[in-house]
Order: sequence, then C-alpha cells, then structure tokens
Amino acid sequence: MIKIESLHKTYGDNEVLKGISLEIKAGEIVAVIGPSGTGKSTFLRCLNYLERPDSGTLLIGDVRVDFENISKDEVYSLRKKTSMVFQNYNLFKNKTALENVMEALRVVKKMPKDEAEKVSLEALKQVGLLDKANSYPSRLSGGQQQRIGIARAMVLKPEIILFDEPTSALDPEWVGEVLDVIKGIASRHLTMIIVTHEMSFAREIADKIVFLDGGKIIQYGTPEEVFEKSNNDRVNQFIKKLH
Ligand SMILES: Nc1ncnc2c1ncn2[C@@H]1O[C@H](COP(=O)(O)OP(=O)(O)OP(=O)(O)O)[C@@H](O)[C@H]1O
Ligand SMILES: [Mg+2]
Repeated sequence: MIKIESLHKTYGDNEVLKGISLEIKAGEIVAVIGPSGTGKSTFLRCLNYLERPDSGTLLIGDVRVDFENISKDEVYSLRKKTSMVFQNYNLFKNKTALENVMEALRVVKKMPKDEAEKVSLEALKQVGLLDKANSYPSRLSGGQQQRIGIARAMVLKPEIILFDEPTSALDPEWVGEVLDVIKGIASRHLTMIIVTHEMSFAREIADKIVFLDGGKIIQYGTPEEVFEKSNNDRVNQFIKKLH
C-alpha cells in the first residue's frame, strides 16, 4: 500500500502542491488528470524525490518517510521502491536498448552482469523489442524508445511505477503501441500512477481518477464517478473541453 499525506511543494512564492493526500492499494491504477500547470508532474516527481517536497509523509511498502526530515538512506530506499517513465524517454543515447535497461539493475540493484542481461532481455521481450536489443535509441521510433523506457522501469520491480504523460511526445501513429504495452503491464497487477491527457485510456485502464487543480485534489473517484457523475463544475468543464 501507498499512503501520501499532506504533501506540500512551493517554488519561490508559487505554492504548487497545497496538501495532497492519497491512498493507493497494491495493484491499483490511478490516473491523474487536470489542467496544464496544475502540479501533476511536480506531484509525481516529489514521490520519488526528483523534487524535494517541503513537507508531507509517504508510506510505500515498508518504507515511511517524513519529507521534512528525510535521510540519505531513506531517499535511496524510496528510489528503489519507485520508478519513473518520462515523457521524453530519457534514454542514454550512447547505450543500446539492452544496455539502457540493464543500467539501473547494475547501478541500483548491483546485479551481476549475466543476471542483469537475462532479466533485461526478458523485459525487452515483454515490450515486444527483443529484436532491437542491440539498437541505439537514434535508430528507434519514439514508440519503441518509450517501450524501452517502460522495460527499464519494470525490471527494477518497483512497488509503484510513475508515468508522466508517457505518450504526449509521440507522433499519433506510435501512441497505440505504447498504450497497449501499459495495458499489458496493468493486467499483471502492478501498482501505477499515470499522468495522462488520454482520457479514453484513463477511463479504460484506471481504477481511480484523481483530478488535480490549483494544487489540490478537487475530485477523486472511479472513472464513472468522475467522468459521468461529477457535480463539480471545474471537472465537468475540463472534460467537456476535451470533446
Ligand atoms: N523546477 C521548477 N522551478 C520553478 N517552478 C516550477 C518548476 N517545475 C514546475 N514549476 C511550476 O510549478 C507549476 C506546476 O508545474 P507542473 O509541471 O507540475 O504542472 P503539470 O500539471 O505537470 O502541467 P502540464 O500538464 O503542462 O505538464 C507550474 O506553475 C510550473 O511553472
Ligand atoms: Mg506535466
């Protein structure tokens, strides 16, 4: 289980997260939606400490951290429990697909080379890219690069995978294959938070929807509750604008 309590983050005098609390059960898929600039990326980045929250607590598996008082060891533990899939893939350009996936296992998990290679090849197979194991990112389509990003996140066997708009940098022709890979992972009961503008995807895949606006969770519920039965004007306006 993951429990986020009262997460706050301010940049200068811009209070971006004004107390976010959320509980996520093991195996649950949470989609985060909301207007641009509302703090969705900041929220995800705070969860694995790519950004330093001002305050709040996070319980993730057997690790509990208080962000006002976090030690280096706790940051390290947190990083092992979470992994992130970025909008722009963030692959190493000078490494092959296989080396990109292996890197985290070697560095974070200190896994021996042979074992890391075996696990990484299996992950590449799962995202349908075994035949591209020795290709460099520049020789791969956006969709293929993002599938490597997903394989890299999966091999660490994190408690939760955080996706920040995994398809928004892709040409439309590659969106479907990446969404299909994420759906494939979803069916294996991994816990995920996905920030996305793909509403039909969110609706199809998510157990819960979080609507973030003005640094707060304005609405939280099942896709049906948020997309069809919301009484909140902000939520309804946002959804209407997308049609
Ligand atoms: N490193 C930073 N330094 C200062 N301000 C930042 C930084 N990162 C984000 N912000 C500000 O925090 C606010 C929230 O940004 P964030 O990127 O989290 O929004 P978002 O909901 O992900 O938006 P989008 O849908 O466009 O991706 C914005 O006002 C942004 O300008
Ligand atoms: Mg963002």
